[in-house]
Formats: sequence, structure tokens, C-alpha cells
Amino acid sequence: MKLKEIFPGVFRIDGQLATKNLVNGRSYSEKIIKINGEEYRTWNPEKSKAAAAIERGIKNFPINKGSKILYLGIAQGQTASYFSDIIGNDGIIYGVEFSARAVSDLVIACEKRGNIVPIKADARKPEDYSWVEKVDVIYEDVADSEQVAILLRNVEAFLKKGGYAMIGIKSRSIDVTKDPKKIFEESLSAIKEKMEILDYVTLDPFEVDHAFIVCKLS
Ligand SMILES: C[S@@+](CC[C@H](N)C(=O)[O-])C[C@H]1O[C@@H](n2cnc3c(N)ncnc32)[C@H](O)[C@@H]1O
Repeated sequence: MKLKEIFPGVFRIDGQLATKNLVNGRSYSEKIIKINGEEYRTWNPEKSKAAAAIERGIKNFPINKGSKILYLGIAQGQTASYFSDIIGNDGIIYGVEFSARAVSDLVIACEKRGNIVPIKADARKPEDYSWVEKVDVIYEDVADSEQVAILLRNVEAFLKKGGYAMIGIKSRSIDVTKDPKKIFEESLSAIKEKMEILDYVTLDPFEVDHAFIVCKLS
């Protein structure tokens, strides 16, 4: 089997994205691949915007061993479980989610992973989880009409200087009647006022009418 590390902790195994499993066994419905006694979990770009963005060619993927991450819209924790593999036991993910159902599934799903802290809160109100420490990365996937404003509010409250943010933008959640391209342009200019844009890709064919932006707080 051909194994290549394409970003720290992110591998390509015979064409498929994968991470090295932090806890043995399957967390969701992913395939497990064993190489030299190590267990790898395949990462499906159709089920995760971060994986789709990697497949669409982003050049910056700023999650590393030991990273502290604030994850907005963590849902049941599927994408977060891959971040959890990458950051290892020295890193931490603060996962904000406002659906009680998703949070209870998340608590069960990440029971064995010691590096995810579920937070039942509304990402529009960072003051409700103001106890969270400053982080290296903010990841946002909330599908809200005010997605960009929510990101910037959280950046202001929690992102370290020199830190990174990644956002998956669903144009239909912002305005179904508007051309997605126009929405992506407006989102980029709003982010540019506060941060440097490092990567911008659309996520088709994995997710239609979605874009993904990686940016840095200088
Ligand atoms: C597309 S799903 C996230 C999928 C997840 N990021 C993954 O890849 O595994 C969007 C999630 O954001 C949550 N959400 C939407 N608006 C939110 C808000 N204002 N605060 C917290 N969570 C929110 C929804 O309940 C939903 O679970």
C-alpha cells in the first residue's frame, strides 16, 4: 500500500485521505486500514468539508499535533474526530453545537477521545462560553445566514494573534436567491477586513454551492 503524509497527520493511502487513529476501532462508518501495525481511518470528502477542501487543493491546512481548536457547529463530531486524530493527546478541541440531540450523540461518540470538549451553546453568542482559552485555530461549519459575522466575532474573542481560521460557506444558507459566486465574493471581502486570506476553493463536486476559506490573523 502507498502511504504519503500530505499535511501533518493527514495521509493519502492508495488515493484515499486518512488519519492515524487516536483510539482503536471505528468511530463512524469509515474504513479502517492497517499498515505496519498502525490503524488509519479513511476520511471521506463527501462527508466532511475539510476533507473536500483538501481534495480541492488547499495549500494550507493549519492543524498540527498539539493544536488548540475552537470548532463551531461540531454536530456529532465526525469531522472533529479526524482533527482529534491529528492533534493527539496534547491538543484540544472545544466543540460548540446548539442542537441538544447532536450534543448528546457527540458526548457518546467522543467518550473514548480525551481531547474533545462538547459545549452546548449558540456560536452567535461567544460570551456564553467565554471561559474557553485562546486557540490556534477556529473552524466554522454552522450553515447560518450570518456565518461570516459569527466567525469574526469568535475570532475576536478566542483566536491567538498569528492563528488561523477555516470556514465552510453554504451559499444557500446565506441567501437562496443570490448567485453563490456573489455570496462567496462578499464573504471574502468581509473576512479580508480582519484577516489575510490564504486559500479559497469551491467544494464541488463534493458539496454543491459551497466554498471553503482558510485565513490567518496577522
Ligand atoms: C453542517 S452541520 C456540521 C457538520 C460537522 N461540522 C461535521 O463536518 O462533522 C452544521 C451544524 O451546525 C449547527 N449549528 C448551526 N447554527 C449554529 C449556531 N448558531 N451555534 C451552534 N451550532 C450551530 C447545527 O445544529 C449542525 O449540527
